[in-house]
Amino acid sequence: MQSYWMQMTETDTVLERRESPVPETGARQLLVRMYAAGLNRGEFLLGHGLHGKPGTWKAIGGEGAGEVVAVGSGVTGFGSGDRVMGRCAGAFSEYALMEAAEAMTVPARLSWEQAASIPLTFLVAYDMLVLQGRLKPSEWLLVNGVSSGVGVASLQLGKALDARVIGTSGSADKLTSLKPLGLDVVYARASRISRRRSWTRRASTART
Ligand SMILES: NC(=O)c1ccc[n+]([C@@H]2O[C@H](COP(=O)([O-])OP(=O)(O)OC[C@H]3O[C@@H](n4cnc5c(N)ncnc54)[C@H](OP(=O)(O)O)[C@@H]3O)[C@@H](O)[C@H]2O)c1
Repeated sequence: MQSYWMQMTETDTVLERRESPVPETGARQLLVRMYAAGLNRGEFLLGHGLHGKPGTWKAIGGEGAGEVVAVGSGVTGFGSGDRVMGRCAGAFSEYALMEAAEAMTVPARLSWEQAASIPLTFLVAYDMLVLQGRLKPSEWLLVNGVSSGVGVASLQLGKALDARVIGTSGSADKLTSLKPLGLDVVYARASRISRRRSWTRRASTART
């Protein structure tokens, strides 16, 4: 099967399409014919620990959506032909293994691309807002970096829970485009570039 791999060093990121064997389905796993996959920022951060040591190769994509083609022993509730989405390793491949416990049925109205972008960010948002934060209707939710993947998921989940949402971003344009999702209050912090310029100015003033 075709599969995308990535190598990162301190200075470079190299992407390569490879021919690799279709993985074998283990116990409690689904083999999924992938139709769309998600790539998250964490996969590009060497210090994040998701990629491994500098110089190593890794099959990319930590989440995706597709059709079940085989089920491992001990799997109940899923069968061939089911539309599933979930976290999985090597999602940018024609086939990937998904733990059955991670798999979710794709709602009929979602496209493959929409479904593939949901698992990671929405599971993080659900953990923060529901399991840890116990967010209630009418409560205020502050989302720093609301334009990020996790930020947009938190905004959407917050609104679904009837909370009032404040969002911050370094970009006024991004905040404007998020308003239709129900953002109640926006706060545009100074952009990274202008902040860096003012630090540089202050530093050079301090030196002279
Ligand atoms: N994605 C996941 O599955 C996941 C899982 C667990 C935890 N997290 C954490 O959640 C946070 C957001 O992750 P994400 O994957 O959702 O991020 P993302 O979609 O890549 O968004 C990153 C946002 O951070 C802001 N930003 C601030 N400084 C930046 C810089 N130097 N370079 C680029 N962007 C910068 C930008 O917002 P503005 O332009 O609006 O300022 C940008 O839109 C991270 O701390 C990540 O570690 C993510």
